[in-house]
Parts: sequence; structure tokens; C-alpha cells
Amino acid sequence: MLFPGTFDPFTRGHKDIARRASKLCDSLVIAVMENSAKTPLFTADERVELVSRSIADDGLDNVSVMKWGGLLVDLYSKLGCCASVRGIRSESDFRYEAELALANRLLLPGYDAILLPCRDDLSLISSSIVKEVGFYGGDISMMVPAEIINTVNDKFMKGRPQ
Ligand code: PNS
Repeated sequence: MLFPGTFDPFTRGHKDIARRASKLCDSLVIAVMENSAKTPLFTADERVELVSRSIADDGLDNVSVMKWGGLLVDLYSKLGCCASVRGIRSESDFRYEAELALANRLLLPGYDAILLPCRDDLSLISSSIVKEVGFYGGDISMMVPAEIINTVNDKFMKGRPQ
């Protein structure tokens, strides 16, 4: 199964979806993707590193991480996936995911998506909120995995005007 996303940066919500999805399949590939609508704060290599570090100590033996710069369906075919998994926090997430799944299914008729509702306590967390709070020096410790807080904060420190 594939878990694609921009992960800019990986959040506690993403980590929860990865953990739960890993129990639903033999192997889960977390794919750090490009999104043409977004200019990421972290490079693709940095995002791969942040995801890898976030899950390293969780005993998720069937989870791997990679980056991919092309179409999602091309990776899906290449890896012979049975489905993509995406987390949904709200009705608007659901609409977006339904459209994305439809577009991917047009490109690849066998494509399927599994949408996992996020945990209640993680429903307000997004990479965008992490960046907004972090940019102004706010506390992001409840939003990103403990393993990457310092690295993510360092990035904000470097970007902040003195
Ligand atoms: O974390 P995001 O930004 O919501 O993830 C969106 C993502 C990366 C899954 C989506 O933009 C994507 O699949 N990008 C790769 C290009 C592609 O295949 N687009 C979908 C065809 S319409």
C-alpha cells in the first residue's frame, strides 16, 4: 500500500495514519511527493529524512520511505500497489480526496484509495498550521513527532528575520 503526501513537514497526524495503515497491509511505502500547487519549505531529501526519523523507533518493520517526483499513478503501477491511503480530517478533506481519487482513477482504471478518518485529537493539525505557528516562533511540539521537533524548529530559526 502507498501513503503519498507532500509531508512538508511530517506531522503527528501523518504518523498516526502511517502507523494505522501499516496494520492494514503487508507493506506500506510512504512516498514523499511533489505537489505542483505547493512550494515546499523542506527539500524532498529533507522531507524523506524527517519522515524516516519520525518512524524509526516505532517498530514499523513493514514501512519504508522514498521520494517520487512524477505522477502518483506511475509510482502506484511501478510498485504494484493495491491502494493508496490518505488521512481525512474534515468534510473538505473528503471532497479533495474524492476528486484526487477520481482523477487518479481516470489515469489508471485499477487505482483505488483508502481514506482513514484521523484521530479526534489530531484533527486540527496540518503541515500548513505547523509552518504558520513555527514561522512566528510558536510551540509546535504537540504537532510534529518528537524525533524531528529540533530539526523543524531549526529551519524556522534560519528563515526568521533577526
Ligand atoms: O500532502 P498533499 O500535498 O495533500 O499530497 C498531495 C499529493 C502529493 C498526493 C498529490 O498532489 C499528488 O499525487 N501529486 C503527484 C502528481 C499527481 O499524480 N497528481 C494527481 C493527478 S491529478
